[in-house]
Amino acid sequence: MRGGGIVAFPTETVYGLGAVAVDARAVTRVFEAKGRPSFDPLIVHVLDDEMLAGVVSAVPASARILIERFWPGPLTLVLSRARRIPLVVTAGMETVAVRSPSHDVARALLAQTRLPIAAPSANAFGALSPTRAEHVVHSLGDRVALVLDAGATTLGLESTIVRLEPQPALLRPGALPVEEIEAAIGPVERIVRHESSAAPGRLEHHYAPRTRLRIARAADVPLEQRAGAAYLGWAESAEGYAASRVLSTQGSLREAAARLFECLYELDALECTRIDAEPVDERGLGLAIMDRLRRAAT
Ligand code: TXA
Ligand code: MG
Repeated sequence: MRGGGIVAFPTETVYGLGAVAVDARAVTRVFEAKGRPSFDPLIVHVLDDEMLAGVVSAVPASARILIERFWPGPLTLVLSRARRIPLVVTAGMETVAVRSPSHDVARALLAQTRLPIAAPSANAFGALSPTRAEHVVHSLGDRVALVLDAGATTLGLESTIVRLEPQPALLRPGALPVEEIEAAIGPVERIVRHESSAAPGRLEHHYAPRTRLRIARAADVPLEQRAGAAYLGWAESAEGYAASRVLSTQGSLREAAARLFECLYELDALECTRIDAEPVDERGLGLAIMDRLRRAAT
């Protein structure tokens, strides 16, 4: 990585495809490997406060509170960019998205490079995010030189992204429920999905399996429509469906979030005619789960 290489590595959320953030050519290789459009900015990963100081030009008081409370962990903050961070990382913007991952392997990598690492999720552009090393290999193949394999990630959903100025706003729901952020700093505005200028790169068709997916309550799907289709949800028995995956038998949102992409990968591989995904209440992790399901359905 110090020589400009790109490496896939695990974080607590999903696997990332990393390049040293201050090396514009290496970062360009990440965009190429993913087939990602250059208007979609990357998240910069830092080990600690010292590394953060080289990535951003200022840390507002509200950001300081969130950092103390939630880092290392699945929270990405959009702050003002330090000059040293090339514009290819931020898609030309004066802001930079930054987070400090809690995964031991990610932290060991940051400690070894001693440089901030720019890393999007390690999947081909528009495809499902990888929660296992095998997913990375399946999606990117030999476009990546090395994958650090630490098994399945624990959270399974990408980080929550918030902007702090001019006022706190949620740009992407994720593994840290926005309610917890609000408990720390007060109200956080929910940016509606099509306001693309606030969350660049958040294209509607992100996280798409190849199989057509729709959001539907199994209770509303007549038996004769289930043949050949797959079910994703909470029910123990999805009668009449060709295949099914249960996100959590206990109804746990945390377990459901951790299993979501994995279940989508598995169902997608079965080549069913359709996936019916059961909706969940949009509270806590339910907000991020529904966000990913809607995108998969687009
Ligand atoms: O959990 C995660 O966040 C994972 C792991 C690898 O850290 N990373 C991840 O990266 O999900 P990616 O590239 O799939 O999503 C990054 C998103 C962009 O699509 C964009 O919406 C937002 O972060 N972003 C990046 N820089 C931004 C900025 N300056 N302003 C607003 N949004 C930004
Ligand atoms: Mg991604």
